[in-house]
Amino acid sequence: MKIAIDGPGGAGKSTLSKKLAKHFNLVYIDTGAMYRAAGLACVRQGITIKEQPEEAIQIVNASEIDLIPDEAGQKIMLNGEDVTGLIRTPEISMAASDVSAIPEVRIRLVEMQRKLAETRDVIMDGRDIGTYVLPDAPIKIFLTASSEERAKRRYLELKQRGENCEFDAVLAELLVRDKNDSTRAFSPLKQAEDSILVDTSELNFDESLAYLTKIIEERL
Ligand code: DC
Repeated sequence: MKIAIDGPGGAGKSTLSKKLAKHFNLVYIDTGAMYRAAGLACVRQGITIKEQPEEAIQIVNASEIDLIPDEAGQKIMLNGEDVTGLIRTPEISMAASDVSAIPEVRIRLVEMQRKLAETRDVIMDGRDIGTYVLPDAPIKIFLTASSEERAKRRYLELKQRGENCEFDAVLAELLVRDKNDSTRAFSPLKQAEDSILVDTSELNFDESLAYLTKIIEERL
């Protein structure tokens, strides 16, 4: 069983995928975490990814990125260090988006993602899972919501974690990332033709979860 969940940032992909993974007994794989670890590696080396793509490729190629799925969700390791708690900041979000536009980086991470899915039943979330990583996945969902609603959710999530942030800045960052992710030349964020579009703008978390559960059950 393979389920592909794609969509823009803040649409609720990871929280919903985690719950769905438990419910359907699947391994959850958050591919965004891999791009975030790659972005973190570049930030730590002090480079500006957009201006120094060759350096970014070198840094990512020299980095060991491992995604370890476990009961509690997953751990993301960078050169043997658990960086799970370090990759959800606005700075790393932008770095992840920038580094993910580099084809050489994508090719390497996509290979790892396909390997992870080879021997497991997975629910994998990202931007290009249904279109590129797992094009044969029998269930593909494109999850979206209005940009205002997505920014609102991201803002509340950051606030809950005690981060100091402004709503307008969160919205602006999300719009830049949307544009970055959907206009890059190689494997951009795009709805797969054979995917089911789910807009959660008007749905709360429980309603979204119930709706997705029903969609998946109908197709199993
Ligand atoms: O899902 P996320 O917000 O954690 O992803 C961070 C960035 O990584 C996102 O802006 C684009 C990139 N990404 C990607 O290009 N392809 C994926 N499959 C997953 C994430």
